[in-house]
Amino acid sequence: MPSRVAGTGSYLPQRIVTNDELARRVATSDEWIRTRTGICQRHVAAPDERTSDLALGAATGALAAASLKPADVDLIIVATTTPDIVFPSTACILQAKLGAAGGPAFDVQAVCSGFVYALAIADRMVSGGLARNALVVGAEIYSHILDWEDRSTCVLFGDGAGAVVLVPSDEPGILSAHLHADGNYKDILCVPGQVKNGRVAGIPFVRMDGSAVFKFAVKVLAEVAHEALTANRRTTADIDWLIPHQANIRIMDATAKKLGVPLSRVVSTVDKHANTSAASIPLALDAGVRDGRIREGQHVMLVGVGGGFTWGSVYLRW
Ligand code: ACO
Repeated sequence: MPSRVAGTGSYLPQRIVTNDELARRVATSDEWIRTRTGICQRHVAAPDERTSDLALGAATGALAAASLKPADVDLIIVATTTPDIVFPSTACILQAKLGAAGGPAFDVQAVCSGFVYALAIADRMVSGGLARNALVVGAEIYSHILDWEDRSTCVLFGDGAGAVVLVPSDEPGILSAHLHADGNYKDILCVPGQVKNGRVAGIPFVRMDGSAVFKFAVKVLAEVAHEALTANRRTTADIDWLIPHQANIRIMDATAKKLGVPLSRVVSTVDKHANTSAASIPLALDAGVRDGRIREGQHVMLVGVGGGFTWGSVYLRW
């Protein structure tokens, strides 16, 4: 039986950090950040907030939108690069906080493509009968892995969580998923640190080759959207809403231009959220659903790209 999205939800930490506030900490400016990235502000988690807390807020919203209770959930997948702890998984911690014990729960680590990967896996598990009501969450606290003295990275990211509930459906909702990775590009975006012998070894902060990431992202986001359209015998005219990973407005605009999708059909939240990695696509999806832009019967193209490098698409009918 095919699966469809029955509800979406979001959670953003209360504290907002503006570009001007960052400009008081490092040598940057609101003008530089806005023109290079489209980012105006980002949310930052409180010191006692964990990724699973953000995930809980988004999951609660998605379950309410789907008119389901935590006890109805029989699969939880959390896409995150910033888990609460080394193990158990943030999905298991979320499951306990929700009160939804019993079904499988696990994390997916595909960095900014994590949500697309997780949604593809959940779709196959629901359509294959392994689960009925699946909760798929993208949740991140990037503020924990940023070097706040490095202006080239600290201005780009934010914290947040987005979630969807997938259920079986007579009519197909998820139409296709295509996933890719190329580990040869592992060094252009990474956090090259590890927990070893009781301490952190290596660098526990985001390191990035900005221009290499930019070129790679635009190339594969457009390619993977085309791959999905070809597989579904559709054209770009059949994308009512394009929701790319919200890394940077210039990457998103260049992708839309390459695809021939007008900017008016791109859902963008990067101005308010910055890059929230695995949370960015579900946060934008929830924004588009809640403000009424995404309507029943429309076609939505989700395209993700992130460290690894990883990339992928999920094409769906709302
Ligand atoms: N404020 C002011 N100046 C800065 C800042 C800052 N925050 N950061 C870098 N600069 C300086 C640099 O030091 C450099 O100075 P120099 O010329 O004296 O050496 C100058 O600005 C220009 O730097 P560039 O890197 O050439 O600037 P560019 O226009 O390429 O923009 C950016 C940099 C925004 C990082 C760009 O490369 C980009 O968008 N890359 C994509 C990276 C991205 O979005 N990553 C997110 C994660 S990736 C993902 O999610 C898949």
